[in-house]
Amino acid sequence: MNDNPAPVLRAQGLVKTHYGESGPAHAVRGADLYVRQGEFVAITGPSGAGKSTLLHLLSGLQQPDTGSIWLDGERTDAWRESRWAVERRKRIGIVFQFFNLVSNLSVADNVELPALLAGASPKRARAEREELLAELGITGKERSLPAELSGGEQQRVALARALVNHPPLLLADEPTGSLDSRGTREVMRLLSRFHQRGQTIVLVTHDARLASAADRVISFFDGRIADDATLESTPSHRQGASGVLRLHD
Ligand SMILES: Nc1ncnc2c1ncn2[C@@H]1O[C@H](COP(=O)(O)OP(=O)(O)OP(=O)(O)O)[C@@H](O)[C@H]1O
Ligand SMILES: [Mg+2]
Repeated sequence: MNDNPAPVLRAQGLVKTHYGESGPAHAVRGADLYVRQGEFVAITGPSGAGKSTLLHLLSGLQQPDTGSIWLDGERTDAWRESRWAVERRKRIGIVFQFFNLVSNLSVADNVELPALLAGASPKRARAEREELLAELGITGKERSLPAELSGGEQQRVALARALVNHPPLLLADEPTGSLDSRGTREVMRLLSRFHQRGQTIVLVTHDARLASAADRVISFFDGRIADDATLESTPSHRQGASGVLRLHD
């Protein structure tokens, strides 16, 4: 491992207020973040703390009211939607909390589409899709439509779609929220494999086991980072770290 890896993601002073039917929601109230290449960062915190909003800002799906984001050292403030779309295809894999699969495309097409859009051959896209779905334990459902799958199956398809282009940065929002313990283990195994290959992972999770597999756990509370703890790599320390998580769960 490089001793001083470049920040793959940096955010400074992020603020985002949503204006909905029930008045303004101050979802993110000033967040600074610095994620090094190859880090596996878990973000945890209570419902409504602003975790999903933070991920939407970091992936350019929502614009901050104030604050800046840098990807691989490049400031993104001036990026238009089209530029963000290209960057998301090339270097950011996103797993949404509520899956966002394309409802009229089969499972196979949902996973292959980002690969084809990024220029992979149909043969290559198919091979990647087969490998990812097999690894996530959902073979035999390739021709199904998303609505014909369980929540946990849809969740794993969403993860396969996010990983099909081997993005250097994965942003995942509760990727195991609808899974049983076996599904969670399969997702954890896949995430560790990607992490070992040097990919950077930022994931939001309520699952203390998943969080304890990360290098760092950030507690997000009321729109701000309340705690940022680097975990030791020994399993005994990681057990201890999950105790920290329970503070806000
Ligand atoms: N599009 C929106 N319009 C209005 N308010 C919103 C919108 N999206 C989020 N909010 C509000 O912003 C706050 C933060 O929401 P967010 O979804 O970021 O929380 P979260 O930490 O992801 O919660 P959860 O753990 O339940 O997923 C909440 O008060 C929510 O009601
Ligand atoms: Mg959320």
